[in-house]
Amino acid sequence: MSDLIEKIDKSRLPNHIAIIMDGNGRWAREKGEDRLFGHFHGVESVRNIVEGCAELGIGYLTLYAFSTENWDRPEYEVVGLMELLVNTIRKEVDSLHKNNIKLHVIGDMTMLPEYARAELNEALEITKDNTGLNLIMALSYSGRWELLNAVKNIAWQVKKGDLKVEEINQDTLQQHLATSNFPDPELMIRTSGEYRISNFLLYQLAYAELYFTNVRWPDFRKENLYEAILDYQARERRFGKTGDQMKMGQGA
Ligand code: IPE
Ligand code: IPE
Ligand code: MG
Repeated sequence: MSDLIEKIDKSRLPNHIAIIMDGNGRWAREKGEDRLFGHFHGVESVRNIVEGCAELGIGYLTLYAFSTENWDRPEYEVVGLMELLVNTIRKEVDSLHKNNIKLHVIGDMTMLPEYARAELNEALEITKDNTGLNLIMALSYSGRWELLNAVKNIAWQVKKGDLKVEEINQDTLQQHLATSNFPDPELMIRTSGEYRISNFLLYQLAYAELYFTNVRWPDFRKENLYEAILDYQARERRFGKTGDQMKMGQGA
């Protein structure tokens, strides 16, 4: 296992990896524990994977931590997750900063409790000039929320006369997404054996390579990340063209 990293072609790394961190609850229930126990252990995986991505020199790592639909979970789980989030940010911000990691948040921040928003804003401010790994936390996020927002903002611009309908193109839409400053992910990983997108980066994943593993998030470690990257590197990304076109270098 330990030599997996040696097999990775460092010149063909995905620049942006997105992860649906799933399976915390089942991991805990399988151990006869409360679901929150699983979330608590999931933090250890976050730490390990952030470190792994930083070591490899990955540009962007987006972690799906909480969806807009997750607000409908039992209140005690939602509150537990918010407290875990705040405590984790508080504990980790110094180490993020020392490692030159820049934190970003995407999602409907208005839904977050005030104390969580304040803690996040502080961490964003502390790490804002860092130039290493961009760590993007998707919090109270969903692709439909994001697309709806984008459409509304574009409509306002048209209404105000700042934009003509004929001028709207894919770039316009891209610029109004929560991810406007980030490239699209090349690799999307989902843990815990579920084969769905669950409202994650619906627009941005258009041509991402999808990788699914049965490993529950609290068990996911660097070696599992390396496996996913090796799988990604063995694929042919065609973007609608033919395999022959790609081999003849006409892919670009
Ligand atoms: C992922 O684990 C974390 C969040 C969605 C917050 P889950 O809590 O969804 O765990 P399972 O899928 O129920 O096992
Ligand atoms: C997706 O997981 C959201 C996060 C991992 C934050 P869910 O557990 O909420 O998704 P479903 O309900 O299984 O589709
Ligand atoms: Mg789940």
